[in-house]
Amino acid sequence: MTADDNQRDKDQTPPRPSRLRDAWRVLIGRAGNGSDNGGLAPAAPRGIEYPQAALIGALIGGLPGPAIVLDRDARVIAYNEAATSLAPTLRVGEPALITLRMPELVDAIRRAGLRRERQRVEFFERVPLDRWFEAFVTPVMLPGGNDARSQILLMTFNDLTPLRRVEEMRADFIANASHELRTPLAALLGFIETLQGPAKNDVAAREKFLGIMQQQATRMARLIDDLLSLSRIELNAHLQPSTPLDLAPVVRQVADGLLTLARDRDVEIKVAVPSEPLIVYGDRDELIRALENLVENALKYAAAGKRVDITLSRAQTRAGMPEARIAVRDYGPGIAPEHLPRLTERFYRVDVADSRAQGGTGLGLALVKHVVNRHGGRVSIESTPGAGASFVMHLPLPTGNFGETRDTLDKSMT
Ligand SMILES: Nc1ncnc2c1ncn2[C@@H]1O[C@H](COP(=O)(O)OP(=O)(O)OP(=O)(O)O)[C@@H](O)[C@H]1O
Ligand SMILES: [Mg+2]
Repeated sequence: MTADDNQRDKDQTPPRPSRLRDAWRVLIGRAGNGSDNGGLAPAAPRGIEYPQAALIGALIGGLPGPAIVLDRDARVIAYNEAATSLAPTLRVGEPALITLRMPELVDAIRRAGLRRERQRVEFFERVPLDRWFEAFVTPVMLPGGNDARSQILLMTFNDLTPLRRVEEMRADFIANASHELRTPLAALLGFIETLQGPAKNDVAAREKFLGIMQQQATRMARLIDDLLSLSRIELNAHLQPSTPLDLAPVVRQVADGLLTLARDRDVEIKVAVPSEPLIVYGDRDELIRALENLVENALKYAAAGKRVDITLSRAQTRAGMPEARIAVRDYGPGIAPEHLPRLTERFYRVDVADSRAQGGTGLGLALVKHVVNRHGGRVSIESTPGAGASFVMHLPLPTGNFGETRDTLDKSMT
């Protein structure tokens, strides 16, 4: 396109109806200035077209959430930085209703303008991400004037997304927990009915059923125990343990405690710990429980590998900080990569039937993650399907005077 074409295009553009333009100029306080750009302010110098706009812009600039100020005719006077993430095409001087297309919001702006009362609405945005907002549209009368220009609308927004997510998680959690409890409960009720009715005088059946009932009741008790432990650990998540703890005895205690299960499953447990103490600030019971779950998992789901290695070692984080690592390595079927990121979610199981058959509730790895997080560490999981899996607890080692920590440990143990 040549410069001439450009000129021709401009000539052919229908002129803006002049009465509308004049009215608009009056509204934004620029009446009679022929050298402007048609009354529309560019995006960058926000809030300069309206008397007091600079003050309004500075004030809402200090608000943490999105805020937009409109004039009586719903044109944008000013907006803050946070508002641009909500409505990227906002422009000072332009009608807000073009940019803010959510019908609930448009209605609220209209109602607030008409009734001069604060309106609250909730709306949902799908693009670019699912987000929920609540918006308040508050009519404000600027001091020192009682004309139309003094009546402005202040719009503020709260992002309700985190709150909604927590609500969804809570609902999911209750649904999962109830489902897990209902299964053994239904089995118990079924057996009680059978024992009261058809099997009333059948001694052999009674013995068998009582055994199963005990198993189911134990499973329910375990589920409740695990849920309570999880919520206790979560409650204390912000309190890092402060007692020095040598990890080698923890590892040995867990391995010894699971020897019977290992024998039953025909699996050999190999333990490797360093000769010198490896001391972290830790909660002994919590770490034992977490490690027990990792070793128990290896014995339950990877018995086919016939061997489980538990290795305690001193290492360094990627940032060069000292850490202790407790690795539980098995040689079983391994875990497909798509499951790895979700394994530490509550109730997540690769094979629900297999886990249930083993008395599992799917809370074990969630507990491990929470325990390790509370200790300021992290859990890593690696697996090659067909070649086993490795679960590692990374726990930060104190960086201060190590000797001092040992002294405290020695004292606390005497
Ligand atoms: N070493 C492993 N090899 C293969 N799969 C594993 C291994 N460890 C865990 N898994 C899979 O991860 C799932 C989640 O484990 P998690 O410990 O959280 O729950 P669970 O063992 O099923 O129940 P719970 O620990 O509450 O008894 C298991 O159900 C299993 O499918
Ligand atoms: Mg488990």
